[in-house]
Amino acid sequence: MLFERTRGTTQAAVKDTKVVRGYPLVGGLVDVFRDGPGFMMRVAQDHPGEVVGVRLGPTTVYLVTYPEHVQQVVLDWRTFGKGGGMFKATRPLLGHGLLTSDGDFWLHQRRMMQPLFQPANLAALTNLMVEVIEREVALLLTRGSAIIDMEVEMNVMSQRVILETMLGRGIERSETDRLNDELQSALEGLNRRMFLSFLPERFPLPGERRYRTAIAAIDDAMLRLVQDRRASGATREDLLSLLLRARDEDTGEGMDDRQVRDELVSIFVAGQDATAKAMTWLWYVLDQKSRGRGALARGGG
Ligand code: HEM
Repeated sequence: MLFERTRGTTQAAVKDTKVVRGYPLVGGLVDVFRDGPGFMMRVAQDHPGEVVGVRLGPTTVYLVTYPEHVQQVVLDWRTFGKGGGMFKATRPLLGHGLLTSDGDFWLHQRRMMQPLFQPANLAALTNLMVEVIEREVALLLTRGSAIIDMEVEMNVMSQRVILETMLGRGIERSETDRLNDELQSALEGLNRRMFLSFLPERFPLPGERRYRTAIAAIDDAMLRLVQDRRASGATREDLLSLLLRARDEDTGEGMDDRQVRDELVSIFVAGQDATAKAMTWLWYVLDQKSRGRGALARGGG
């Protein structure tokens, strides 16, 4: 996990941390773009148990790898806020959704949305999830015995499950396909923008035009879906209907269209990748176990 120093991050929180300086001027940026996960893994392995600063151009981000440290950063949200440049760079895509909002606004949204994720509400979504999974598995089976890249398939599966659980049965597959493509393009652009957040927003980065058109297409599609659902007054068993029903406990007010759009995109981004990664590792573990069983059966120990 990475964090940046924001106004709430006291000097004490990052005091004595070693800083990986990388190349002159650019710091670790070359390594981040060449192989981000590999680079972060090497930094973590070189500094076991430590919080390490990594220079990225003129900014420093802090890499936290130990579970207790990660827990502290996640729970102490007043000290480790989300106000830095990296989070600012997420605004065009993620707006002020739960994942990237901060402080009292985050707390307010969090209190309003937490009840939506009660087991009873989630249970009501499982039929839809199972339907999507069965359909995707049937499609996989039609490919016969070709080798299947589980990382690719788990991404596709989790993208479909989340989009259809959010937006329900009323949306055409061609529309979810299009939305998914735009979301993937926007995420690629977002990654670049986050690590180059010290550059002015209008700085022309490669792929910038595609990034902007993807965000415009997402805004268009999501806002239309929100407005149509609100206007129809229909209550469906999906996340969109749950978000439209969410109310502030004190004022009784709900979210405006833009906030619902921000939460939908944030849930997609937060939920899709994490779930796909967890499921991919699950296949890896199952594979290791079955090999182990095979070796045991052959008496190989
Ligand atoms: C194995 C799967 C998952 C893992 C490992 C995972 C992990 C995490 C972690 C560590 C955070 C905390 C980040 C932070 O506070 O800065 C988080 C936040 C979040 N996750 Fe997940 N997640 C998973 C699946 C999902 C799914 C399926 C959804 C939605 C459908 C989701 C939606 C969210 C949201 C909205 C937040 C922000 C919550 C907040 O700040 O109040 N996640 N997730």
